[in-house]
Amino acid sequence: MERKIKILGFAGSLRKGSYNKAILCAALDMLPPDTELEIFDLEGIPPYNMDLEGRLPDHVVDFKRRIRQADALLIATPEHNYSIPGVLKNAIDWASRPVGDNSFDGKPVAIMSASPAMIGGARAQYHLRQTFVWLNMYPVNRPEVIVPAVHEKIDGSGRLTDEKTREKIGELLVSLSEWTRRIIDN
Ligand code: FNR
Repeated sequence: MERKIKILGFAGSLRKGSYNKAILCAALDMLPPDTELEIFDLEGIPPYNMDLEGRLPDHVVDFKRRIRQADALLIATPEHNYSIPGVLKNAIDWASRPVGDNSFDGKPVAIMSASPAMIGGARAQYHLRQTFVWLNMYPVNRPEVIVPAVHEKIDGSGRLTDEKTREKIGELLVSLSEWTRRIIDN
């Protein structure tokens, strides 16, 4: 049997009741059998400071190590002011450093976004894709998982209940798994 594709997932929100954390958790239920998903919380990653690059903060070291160990990444991002939240950008900036030690280099990645508003965070997704160019990451293009009116799709316990969205997340994970095998087999 082929070895499992290791996916590392993180959400660009620190909020306990985060909708983006909720859609990331839903991915745990929708995993294709040839994949496994570990979820990393960005809580505790300090603001980026180049002065600290000589001795990286422990949380950053841990984040970078987990990215390196993963075959692929899954990012769930909120949209803040038509872009990605500072929390997510900050974590990406840390893991891309120091020069010559970009942990994201060559990694396949899939993205999702959720918002109570009607655009579902789509604008943040396109900003995130822009960062992948310099990071040298390989994003999955389809399907796009954009979740508008997300507050109507999550129950009181934080579970994503909308079946169509759950199916789409499942399709994205299959796509990420196939894409990752194409990249690591070459
Ligand atoms: C927002 N929100 C928001 N939503 C959106 O669809 N487009 C946007 O541009 C913004 N801008 C924005 C800026 C700031 C500073 C905040 C705090 C919020 C609303 C946002 O989608 C909502 O708070 C989500 O619930 C955030 O995601 P989590 O934390 O639930 O994952």
